[in-house]
Amino acid sequence: MSSQLKPSEIVRQLSEHVIGQEAAKRTLAVAIYAHYRRMAANAGDNAVELSKSNILLVGPTGTGKTLLCETLARILAVPFVTADATSLAQTQFVGDEIEAILHRLLDRADGDIERAQRGIVFVDEVDKLKAIGGQARATSGESVQHALLKIMEGAPIRLKDGRHLDTTNILFICGGAFVGLDHILTRTHTFGFISTTAGDDEKILERLNARVKPTDLLEFGLIPEFAGRLPIVARLHDLTQEMLVRILTEPKNAIYRQFRAMLASDGVDLQIAPAVFGQMAELAIEYKAGARSLRGIFEEMMSDVMYAVPDNPGIRQVVIRSLFERAEMIATGPTGS
Ligand SMILES: Nc1ncnc2c1ncn2[C@@H]1O[C@H](COP(=O)(O)OP(=O)(O)O)[C@@H](O)[C@H]1O
Ligand SMILES: [Mg+2]
Repeated sequence: MSSQLKPSEIVRQLSEHVIGQEAAKRTLAVAIYAHYRRMAANAGDNAVELSKSNILLVGPTGTGKTLLCETLARILAVPFVTADATSLAQTQFVGDEIEAILHRLLDRADGDIERAQRGIVFVDEVDKLKAIGGQARATSGESVQHALLKIMEGAPIRLKDGRHLDTTNILFICGGAFVGLDHILTRTHTFGFISTTAGDDEKILERLNARVKPTDLLEFGLIPEFAGRLPIVARLHDLTQEMLVRILTEPKNAIYRQFRAMLASDGVDLQIAPAVFGQMAELAIEYKAGARSLRGIFEEMMSDVMYAVPDNPGIRQVVIRSLFERAEMIATGPTGS
């Protein structure tokens, strides 16, 4: 069964879709492995009941948090849903809203309760629950966290159809950008007096200091009980230009591959010069939305081509040499076939 996947295998499969973010992949893979191990152990009659560790993904927007969770669920073949902590704060009846999330999970499991109870729920934007002056909220950030805690800790939730969904084994992954966290870490780090000469010690020191402690999260409005329920923190980093280029071209469903396939079905061979990917990546960096803006940039570049091709069945090849030049559309051989 997929739950037997080793961490290294999970990382390998994640890497087919997610570029970079190696540290986060490893942390996630180890946590997942432990999670499904624990479930197996608790299912037997072990003396020690192993308790669950939920995960917090910290990283800027568009760097792959949602993609990592989605891909993970696909690899494990478990149902997956996402939710926004901020929308939970905008609703009056947070309990109903949370029940709705579990309902969606059950839908993704084709109504199979057992399967839903092994699923993954990704709760994004948990860093934006702090009361902001003047901004009225239907539910306070604290109540949202208390409501989330209840299902994260594991509780049988009564669904509308009268059935119960036990959340004990559902894995909760929370996400947030936590802007300014590094600044907090440099203020709160405590390790500095380990005598060190070797580079290795320094590395360990760096790692300890880069560790996110639950208390570092309190400034973002997380209550201690909630922060304490997220003992595993994985950090994602800004994508470099080189990574953005890889995202455009490498993954199985990379944008470039998608457009090539789309045009190929019209009998058109799409050729994009390597420099163009660099230009798109540079533009994406300016937009400051991680990899999120890549698709829009690509679509815009292709828009003239996608307009012209259906009207001109003679076109056999499209060559793009620069993001800032017109695409060259070449009709070779006998046209009209
Ligand atoms: N590391 C990455 N590797 C591949 N694609 C990525 C990566 N990061 C972001 N993307 C792409 O950018 C878009 C937004 O990513 P997402 O995972 O939703 O970001 P967020 O961190 O805000 O959740 C998705 O279409 C995704 O495919
Ligand atoms: Mg996201």
